[in-house]
Amino acid sequence: MTTIDGGLGFARGSRSLVPRASTGGVEYASQNKNRKHKDLVYYKVFEHGWWYRLPMNLLNPYTPGAGTRPALLAGRDSQTALVRNLADQVQAGRTANPLIYVGLRGMGKTSLLYAARDLFRERGWLAGYFEVRRNVEPGIAVQHIIADSAQLSTGMFRAALANGGHRIGGMKLTLGPAGFSFEVDTDRRAVSPAADAFPALVAFLRTLGADARANGVGVALLIDELQLFRKRDLAVLIQALSALDDEPIVLIGAGLPGLPADMAKANTYAERFRFEGIGPLNDPDAREAVVSPAFGQGIMWDEGAVSHLVAEAHGYPYFLQLYASEAWVAAEGARTITLKHVQVSADAAQRQLSVGLYAARYDRLSDKEREYVDAMAALMLPDVARVGSGAVARNLGKSLSVVAPVRDRVIKKGIVHSPAFGMLEFSVPGFASYVVARSSTADL
Ligand SMILES: Nc1ncnc2c1ncn2[C@@H]1O[C@H](COP(=O)(O)OP(=O)(O)O)[C@@H](O)[C@H]1O
Ligand SMILES: [Mg+2]
Repeated sequence: MTTIDGGLGFARGSRSLVPRASTGGVEYASQNKNRKHKDLVYYKVFEHGWWYRLPMNLLNPYTPGAGTRPALLAGRDSQTALVRNLADQVQAGRTANPLIYVGLRGMGKTSLLYAARDLFRERGWLAGYFEVRRNVEPGIAVQHIIADSAQLSTGMFRAALANGGHRIGGMKLTLGPAGFSFEVDTDRRAVSPAADAFPALVAFLRTLGADARANGVGVALLIDELQLFRKRDLAVLIQALSALDDEPIVLIGAGLPGLPADMAKANTYAERFRFEGIGPLNDPDAREAVVSPAFGQGIMWDEGAVSHLVAEAHGYPYFLQLYASEAWVAAEGARTITLKHVQVSADAAQRQLSVGLYAARYDRLSDKEREYVDAMAALMLPDVARVGSGAVARNLGKSLSVVAPVRDRVIKKGIVHSPAFGMLEFSVPGFASYVVARSSTADL
């Protein structure tokens, strides 16, 4: 038998109750009509003269992690509007320049790419996501995207994709019993895999674009971690896109803040790309990111709790998710999350950060690289965003050319990037403080 808590809710464990006066009738598992929280299913119970509305399951709605999509994509309306605009342009037969999200780790670039993929798919486009890994070529990235997304194509477009005319680098798009995949092209006329990557990619995209156009849709390539492409591969991708005429093919990419400079160096056509900085959320959006997912489950946040959390997170989406998630756990199903819950969970959140976000990266460094990172971090407290690589060298008491190879290795490992010529910045917010704290405890 359930007990009553404070006259309105139930006791621990099932507290997210919304009392509802009712004249009768029993209703189970009714679908919530609220648009934002449409996935939530309620059931109602009648007790002590009241009807109560209970969420069927009370799951932690926060999503700290890399590429874990938030329940609510807060504060990114202008970025999603850009994607919609791009899709409209292309569908109207105009060419649209690639859109590239640029920002630090944990700002929400990957989440935006996923949202873009959904938007294109709703329009019936062929749209797929690919995360670049070391030594992967653009042709392979495109193959993955097409093979994965072709599965969702229908009608004439599907037939066109299945007819064997889509070839690249000695491979051919084939529809088999297990779905679409690229198989070795046995046709004697097929180009050998060793052939130049650029014309092969252009020819492939042209055929694909023509088939998409004939069926009134487009193709969206959502490519993440673009900075991991080798320079020549980045050049091939940019050059191939610039060689297209009015094919309905769009690239939406993402990468670390050094990417625009790398792309411009790789090919001047990149000047036409739209680079969209993805920064911290402003205060109202950060609040919404915290409050809204819980509200969907009937759980409230105290004003003081939200204010404190939002101030601590500095608008950084990953911190917002992590802190809110830990406070949710500390609240143990309470109907209201309070400042106390946020405070008692702060240590747990900090531990998660140290172990998951920072240590995982710092531990990948060699002794020399750590020495470099330590010297860099020492110049950045309390609140310096970027430093000159000359200053880091001086701090190490070495010449720039001697430490340059170490610096480049640290950049390759994705911990540091160069946002402007000769300048360095950590790719993860809060990393400088972590490094300084860690090296000072190591000294003890
Ligand atoms: N607009 C947003 N509102 C709320 N949470 C977000 C938002 N964007 C990202 N997040 C959360 O922030 C974290 C990092 O997101 P992710 O897309 O992986 O960032 P990035 O790709 O820039 O490293 C994830 O936990 C994600 O759920
Ligand atoms: Mg990402």
